[in-house]
Parts: sequence; structure tokens; C-alpha cells
Amino acid sequence: MSLALNTGRLILRLPRMEDAERIAFHLNNFGVAGNLARVPYPYFLADAKAWLRTRHADLPPQETNFTIEVPGEGVAGSIGYHMGSAGEPVIGYWLGQPFWGRGYMTEAARAALDWYFDVTAEDRVLSGVFDFNTASLNVQTKLGFTEIGRSTMHCLARNAEVRHIDTELTRDAWIGQKR
Ligand SMILES: CC(C)(COP(=O)(O)OP(=O)(O)OC[C@H]1O[C@@H](n2cnc3c(N)ncnc32)[C@H](O)[C@@H]1OP(=O)(O)O)[C@@H](O)C(=O)NCCC(=O)NCCS
Repeated sequence: MSLALNTGRLILRLPRMEDAERIAFHLNNFGVAGNLARVPYPYFLADAKAWLRTRHADLPPQETNFTIEVPGEGVAGSIGYHMGSAGEPVIGYWLGQPFWGRGYMTEAARAALDWYFDVTAEDRVLSGVFDFNTASLNVQTKLGFTEIGRSTMHCLARNAEVRHIDTELTRDAWIGQKR
């Protein structure tokens, strides 16, 4: 499958094994891994390769990840979906630190959400942030996510339970804000 989304400044495409070195480089940074639930720290090339081996091209949208590429600069991050513990789709994302603060994630997430609501019949997408992650909460607020509760979530990199703000984006809100 050659699924790819062109956002203007970014290309979102399916992950490939040759992304492993750049993914490992960017995720082996506590400033990135420490904001994610499921990424260990330190993060090794073998971790990236093991994850990439699970990224089959025929996964359903609810399990699809995109590598975020900045043309001319290479692999910058990742955005994708997984089934959460409540059996509902969750969107997660990260950018390598050199790529922060350029509005890239807002741009990438808009494309990934347009695609998702287009190819599925899901009524909503769940997400959330550790409660100190203001940048990510700002991204989600700009996209139309709203808080639906508070919880704690295990953070592998911190090996700790961390306070979490739970959010959702409904299809109605997504479509409504585009009108
Ligand atoms: C969170 C992350 C994805 C943001 O990506 P990004 O491309 O820098 O985000 P954007 O530039 O699209 O938007 C960030 C917004 O937060 C704001 N922001 C950034 N850092 C901030 C901070 N420390 N405090 C408050 N606001 C902040 C920016 O000004 C921007 O808002 P604006 O457009 O209104 O100015 C990126 O920093 C990252 O990957 N971090 C590590 C992993 C992570 O946290 N993943 C998400 C887990 S929920």
C-alpha cells in the first residue's frame, strides 16, 4: 500500500524499516520519551526495529501509524492510532526535538484526523496528555479536542504512574469546526 498524505510542509507516509535509525535517535531523548506512555528510555535501535516489524501495510486505520517526514530534512516524528484499553481508538504522536515549535504537529494531526474520519465510521477519537505537557494540550485544543476526565497512566520512560488529562475529539466537533 502506498498511503501518503501531503500536508504542504510535511509528508505523512507508512513507516519503513529504514526509518529505524532516525526514530531511535529522536526517541532516545527523555524530553520526547518522557511525554509518551509506551516508549521506554533509554530507547535503542533494536526497539525501533522491533516496533517497525509490527507495522504491516495492511493494518486497519485503528492501528495505522504514519512517519512524519520533512522534505529535505528527513524523518521528524510519528503520528498514529492504536486501540486503547477501553476498546476505542486513541491518537498519539511525537516529533523529534529539533522539529518542535514550527506548528508541524498541528499540521500533521489535521491531516491524520481528516484521513481517519474519512476512512472510518468512528464517532470519536480519544487522546490525552500527561498533565505537565502544555505544548501537546495546546495542539489538541487547537484541533478541537476537549477534556473528558482525569486519570493516571503508566509512563514507561519514567517507570511511574503519571497524572493524565483524558481528551476526545468527536466527529461532529471535527466536521463542525471546518464549516
Ligand atoms: C507536543 C509536540 C507534539 C508539539 O509539537 P509542535 O509541532 O511543536 O506543536 P505545534 O507547534 O503544532 O503547537 C504547539 C503549541 O503549543 C505551544 N507551546 C509549545 N511549547 C509550549 C510550552 N512549553 N508551554 C506552553 N505552550 C507551548 C506553541 O506555542 C503552540 O501553540 P500556538 O500555535 O498557539 O503558538 C512536540 O513538542 C513533541 O513531540 N513533544 C514530545 C512528545 C510529546 O509530547 N508527544 C505528545 C504526547 S501527548
